[in-house]
Amino acid sequence: MTAPAQHTRSGRWGGALTQRPLPERDAAIDALSPALRAKLAGIWLSRAAMERRVADSFTVVAAALARRSRDESLVRLAERAVDDEHRHAELSRIVASRFAGRELPGPPRLALVVPEHRGASAELRDTLHVVGQCVLNETTATAFLETCLRFATGDLARRALRELLSDEIDHGRVGWAHLATTSTETRRELGRWLLPMAYLNLQLWREESPVDPEHPPALSAHGAPPGEVIHAALVDALASLILPGLRALDVPIGPLERWLEAGAFTDRAPSELV
Ligand SMILES: [Fe+2]
Ligand SMILES: [Fe+2]
Repeated sequence: MTAPAQHTRSGRWGGALTQRPLPERDAAIDALSPALRAKLAGIWLSRAAMERRVADSFTVVAAALARRSRDESLVRLAERAVDDEHRHAELSRIVASRFAGRELPGPPRLALVVPEHRGASAELRDTLHVVGQCVLNETTATAFLETCLRFATGDLARRALRELLSDEIDHGRVGWAHLATTSTETRRELGRWLLPMAYLNLQLWREESPVDPEHPPALSAHGAPPGEVIHAALVDALASLILPGLRALDVPIGPLERWLEAGAFTDRAPSELV
């Protein structure tokens, strides 16, 4: 399947970008200083770039599911997720443009590096791609967006975050649903790949949301809470959502659990990976 250049009429809302129209005006944005508006425009535009990259990742997930899943509906959901992520990219670009006060071009495309998972069988690699994107990335993305929404007071930011969040919850479910249908053997083999995937996932999130001791509250109001708050929410999602879900599916979680208990550090590789 080839990724469409942008969202299409066959997508979730029949070609519309959002379920509900975005607000025409947001007085809270008009009240911001030019410097804060520029900062928020940059934050939302970088999110547009990342959403676009996730669209590419879902083409990999959809192809993996087409090969490995007997559930056609899961394949269709993954294909629709490609379209969803294109909508997310455009939605984020539009929000960035509102902060900028002018129409911004789309950001440069970020290259997707598909994990090789060297040493895994072709079948296991497909499942790892589904688990990495959906079970890990989308579940942590949900925690990220929930946190952004909890702090946001600006009308435009809240509306945009709600639209993004409802789709990401769906994308996470694709991975959990697929994992539940895999063989006991596949789930047992999956165990040793989880720690490197979760570690790299959290490391990337932390790089993308750096801690700033002088984080202005206005950023939180418009969808960008402090880095340390985001990091805590991501670790909480790993410990309270992902770990119990994997445990319930009899996936071995020992190394992942130990790393979480040790503080989910990302400044050095866990000893199991060295
Ligand atoms: Fe997204
Ligand atoms: Fe997503």
